[in-house]
Amino acid sequence: MGKQTRNFVTIAFSAAWLSLLAFCKITAESTTEAEALLRWKASLSDQPILQSWVTPAQSNSSTAPSQCKWSGITCDAAGNVIEINLAYTGLRGTLENLDLSSFPNLLRLDLKVNQLTGSVPENIGILSKLQFLDLSTNSLNGTLPLSLANLTQVYELDVSRNNITGELDPQLFPDGNNQSKFGLISIKNLLFQDTLLGGRIPNEIGNLKNLVLMALDGNSFYGPIPPSLGNCSELSILRLARNQLTGSIPPAIESLSKLTDLRLFTNKLSGPVPQGIGNHSSLTDLHLNKNNFSGQLPPQVCRGEKLANFTAAYNSFTGPIPESLRNCKSLYRVRLEYNQLTGYIDKDLGVYPNLTYIDMGYNKLRGEISSTWGACQKLTLLRIDGNMISGKIPDEILQLKQLVELDLSSNQLSGEIPKQIGNLSALSILSLNENKFSGQIPADIGTLYNLQSLDLSMNMLSGSIPYQVGDCTKLQSLNMSQNYMNGTIPYQIGNLFFLQDLLDLSYNSFSGEIPSQLGKLTNLITLNISHNNLSGSIPNSLSDMLSLSNINLSYNCLEGPLPIGHIFNSAKPEDFSNNKGLCGKIQGFQPCNTSTTEPGGGNEKSKHVTTVVASLGSALFASLILVGIFVFLSNKKTKHASNEEESPANCNKLSSLWYFNGKIVYEDIHEATKNFNDMYCIGEGASGKVYKAEMPGGQVLAVKRLRSQVDGIAIECTKTFLNEIAALTETRHRNIVKLHGFSSRGKHTFLVYEFMEKGSLADMLRSDEEAIKLDWPMRVEIIKGVAQALSYLHHDCVPPIIHRDISSKNVLMCSNLEAHVSDFGTAKILEPDASNWTAFAGTYGYAAPELAYTMAVTEKCDVYSFGVLVLEVLMGKHPGDLISKIQAQYVESINIKDILDSRLPYSIEQKTADELVFIMNLALSCLQVSPQSRPTMRILAHFLEEKMS
Ligand SMILES: *[C@@H]1O[C@H](CO)[C@@H](O)[C@H](O)[C@H]1NC(C)=O
Ligand SMILES: *[C@@H]1O[C@H](CO)[C@@H](O)[C@H](O)[C@H]1NC(C)=O
Ligand SMILES: *[C@@H]1O[C@H](CO)[C@@H](O)[C@H](O)[C@H]1NC(C)=O
Ligand SMILES: *[C@@H]1O[C@H](CO)[C@@H](O)[C@H](O)[C@H]1NC(C)=O
Ligand SMILES: *[C@@H]1O[C@H](CO)[C@@H](O)[C@H](O)[C@H]1NC(C)=O
Repeated sequence: MGKQTRNFVTIAFSAAWLSLLAFCKITAESTTEAEALLRWKASLSDQPILQSWVTPAQSNSSTAPSQCKWSGITCDAAGNVIEINLAYTGLRGTLENLDLSSFPNLLRLDLKVNQLTGSVPENIGILSKLQFLDLSTNSLNGTLPLSLANLTQVYELDVSRNNITGELDPQLFPDGNNQSKFGLISIKNLLFQDTLLGGRIPNEIGNLKNLVLMALDGNSFYGPIPPSLGNCSELSILRLARNQLTGSIPPAIESLSKLTDLRLFTNKLSGPVPQGIGNHSSLTDLHLNKNNFSGQLPPQVCRGEKLANFTAAYNSFTGPIPESLRNCKSLYRVRLEYNQLTGYIDKDLGVYPNLTYIDMGYNKLRGEISSTWGACQKLTLLRIDGNMISGKIPDEILQLKQLVELDLSSNQLSGEIPKQIGNLSALSILSLNENKFSGQIPADIGTLYNLQSLDLSMNMLSGSIPYQVGDCTKLQSLNMSQNYMNGTIPYQIGNLFFLQDLLDLSYNSFSGEIPSQLGKLTNLITLNISHNNLSGSIPNSLSDMLSLSNINLSYNCLEGPLPIGHIFNSAKPEDFSNNKGLCGKIQGFQPCNTSTTEPGGGNEKSKHVTTVVASLGSALFASLILVGIFVFLSNKKTKHASNEEESPANCNKLSSLWYFNGKIVYEDIHEATKNFNDMYCIGEGASGKVYKAEMPGGQVLAVKRLRSQVDGIAIECTKTFLNEIAALTETRHRNIVKLHGFSSRGKHTFLVYEFMEKGSLADMLRSDEEAIKLDWPMRVEIIKGVAQALSYLHHDCVPPIIHRDISSKNVLMCSNLEAHVSDFGTAKILEPDASNWTAFAGTYGYAAPELAYTMAVTEKCDVYSFGVLVLEVLMGKHPGDLISKIQAQYVESINIKDILDSRLPYSIEQKTADELVFIMNLALSCLQVSPQSRPTMRILAHFLEEKMS
C-alpha cells in the first residue's frame, strides 16, 4: 500500500514517468527500482559512468529503455534488477541515498575500487537474496552493520581496504549450537583486509562450515587465533598476517587437509609451530615471518611437494633446516634469516630449479657452500651472511647468470676471490666482507657492469686495487677497508660518478697521492681513506664534492694546505689528524704560510672554476649563436650582422638544406600542405604555425613554419647556425622528436619534424577523456622517457644541448603514448619577439627561479622545469603555487594522495604508490632554489630506471 502510494506520487510529478508508463509494460516493482537508482544518481555529483541512467524523456531512443539497459545494471527475465556492478568506475559519493529496500531480488552488488565514502548502509541485510557483496577499496568508514547477519545467501563478502572500524560481532556468524537461521552461513570467501577493524576474532567464526578463503590481514585484531578454525574443513587460504595476534598456532590447524596457503607473518605469535603442518595437506605458501616463534621448523613442510614460498625469518626457531626442504623442488622464495638455525647447509639443502630468492642470513649454520647452488639457475638472490660458513667460493655459483645479490659476508670463507666472479653479469650487490679472503682482487671485477654495491672490507686481501674497478660505473657504494692492500689509489675511481653512499679505503697501506679525480665524485656522501700511507697534499678538487658530508683523511702522511670550501668548511680537526704537515684555517691546525699556500692552492682552484665555466660557456655560446641569428633575422632593420664573428651566408643559396635522406624536397612539402594552407594547420605557437604534411610516400611529417619569415624577409644564415641545425638533426633518441631537416627558400623557412599522432602531453592532461587513458604505469613511463631524453641532451651530446623550454606543451605523444621531447635547442629560434632572450627563457610556470636575475642558463634550468613537469604529470595539472609553498617550506610534507590526479582510480597498488612517492621526492629535489642542489638529469634518469623496475 505504502509503496503504491509513493509510486503514484512520483509518477504524478514526473512527465517522464508518465510517458514511460504509456509506452511500455512495466511492473510496479521495476519502477521502484528505476526510481531508486535515479534518486541515488541525483544524490551523487556528476558521474560519467551513470550517463546512461536517464529517464525516457531525456533519451533519444524510440523504444523506451528500462533500467535494465543502464550501465552496470543487470535484470532477470522478469525485469527485476539482480545485479549492480559499478566496480572500477570512479564512483564518488555515499550509499546513503541508495534505497536498498527497492531491490528485493538483488543477487550481486559489486562496487569495488571506487571512491565511496560514508558508511555501509545499516539496512544492508534487507538484500535477503544477495549472494555476492564487494565494497572493497573505497573510503567507507563507520562500523559493520549487524544486519549483515541477515545475508544468509552471501558466499563472498569483501569490504577490504576501507576505513571500517569496530570489532567482528559474534552474531555475524552462525551459532554453532542452536542452528539459528542467521549469520553468514553460506560464506566461502570472507575478506576484511587492511581495514581498521580490531578486537578478538570471535570463536564463532569457526562455524562457517563452507569457508574456503579467510583474509583478515592488515587489521588490529588481537588475542589468539580461534582454535575453532580447525572445524572449517574446506579452508584453503587463511591470511591473518599483520595483526597483533598472540598465543600459539592452535594444533587443530594442522588437520585442515585442504590448507594450501597460511600467512601469519607480522603478529606476536609465539611458542612452537605445530609440527604436523604440511603432513595432511599440500602447502604452497607458509609465511611465519616476524613473530616470536620458537622450537623447530615443521619437519614435513614440503611433504606435498608444492611449497613455493616459505618464510620464517625474524623468529627464534632452532634446530636444522627441515629435512623435507632438501628435495623440495617446487621452492620459489625462501626466507629463514634471523633465527637460531643450526646444522650444515651443504647437507641440508638440495637442488631447486625454480628458486629465485633464498635468505638464510644470521643463523648458526655451518658447512661449506655447496656446488649444487650452480643448478639453481633462476636464483637472483643468495644470502648466507652472518653464519659460520667456511671453505672457498665454489666455481659453480659463479655461473648463476641471473644472480643480482650475493651476500656471503660475516662468515669464515677463505681462499681467493675467483676470477670467474666477472661471469655474474647481473650482479648488483656483492658483499664478501668480514671473511678471510686473501690474495688480490681480480681485475675481472671490472666486468661487473651492473654492480651498485661492492663490499670487500675486513678480509685479508693484498695487492693493489685493480684500476678496472673504475669500469663498474653504476657503483653507489665501494668498501675495501681493513685489508692488507697497497699501491696507489687508481684515478679511475673518479669515474664512479654514481658513487653516493660510501667510498671507504681505510685501514690499508695505500701510498702515493690522493688522485685529484676523486673530486669528480660530486654525489658521494662519505669518504674515508684514513689509516693509509697517502702522501702529498690534499687535492683542491675535493672541495668540489658537493654532497660530501663525512670525510676522514686522518692517519696518513699528508701535508700542505687544507682546501677551502664545502666539506672543508664544516669538517672536524680529527678528520685530518695524524698527518705529516697539514695547515689551514681549521681549528687545531697551523695557519698556512702564505707564500706556500695562496699561489698553488688558489691557482688550482681558479683553474678548475675556469674549466667549468668554459664548458658551460661552450653550450651557452652555441645557444647564443642560434639566438643571435634569429634575433637578427627577426629584427633585421635594427640589428647588424657585424655583431657576429662569422659573416652571414645567404640561405637562399643553400636553396634546400636537407638532412632527411635527401629525399624530401621542398616542393613536396608545399604540395602536401597546399602551400601552407590553414586546412593543414594543426597547431600554433608564438613561433609560428605547425602543419601536418602527408608526403607522397605515405610518411606523415610535422612542419613548423617560422613566423618571422611570413613577411617575406630575406633570410641570411651563418655557417655556425647551419651547423647547429645539422647537429640537431643528428640527435637520435627514442624519446626525442626527430628533427628531420630545415629548409629556407623564398619566403618560407621551416623545420621538419617527425609527426606525433597524439599531440602534446599538455593537451592530453587537459582533456578528462584523454587523461584517464594515462594510467599510473603510463605516467611513470612518460616521466622516465622525458628524463632519458634530457639526460641524453645534457650528457651524451657534444656539445651538450640545453633544452631551455621543457613544459608539457613540448612533450609530444606518439600513437602508443610514448613521450617525445620536442623543440630542443630551438627554443631560442622560435622566440622571435624576445629581444633579450636571457630576460626570459622558457615558459612561465616552468622556468627556474634563477632566470629572473641571472644570465646563467645552465642545464639545471632544464632540471627545474623537469621537476615542474613531473608534478604536473602526477597531479594532472600544473602544480601552480604548490611550488612556491614547497620552496618557502610552508608545507612540511606532502601526502601523495592529496595531490595525485583525482581523475584516475583512487586505489592503486602499493608498489605503484611507492613508486609515485619516490618520483615525487625526485621532483621535489629538482625544484630546489639553488641550481647546484638540484640533481643532474643523468642521476635522475638513472634513479628512475634502476628503482622503477
Ligand atoms: C532480515 O531479513 C528479513 C527477511 O528475511 C527482513 O524481514 C528483515 O527486515 C531483515 N532484517 C534486517 C535488519 O535487514
Ligand atoms: C582512513 O584511515 C587512515 C588511518 O586512520 C587515515 O589516514 C585516512 O585519512 C582515512 N581515509 C579516509 C578516506 O577516511
Ligand atoms: C565518515 O566519513 C565522513 C566523511 O566522509 C565523516 O563526515 C564522518 O564523520 C565519518 N564517520 C565516522 C564514524 O568516522
Ligand atoms: C609465491 O610463489 C609464487 C610462485 O609459485 C609467486 O607467483 C607468488 O608471488 C609468491 N607469493 C609470495 C607472497 O611471495
Ligand atoms: C617450476 O615452476 C614452473 C612454472 O611456475 C612450474 O610449472 C613447475 O611445476 C615448477 N617446478 C616444480 C618442480 O615445482
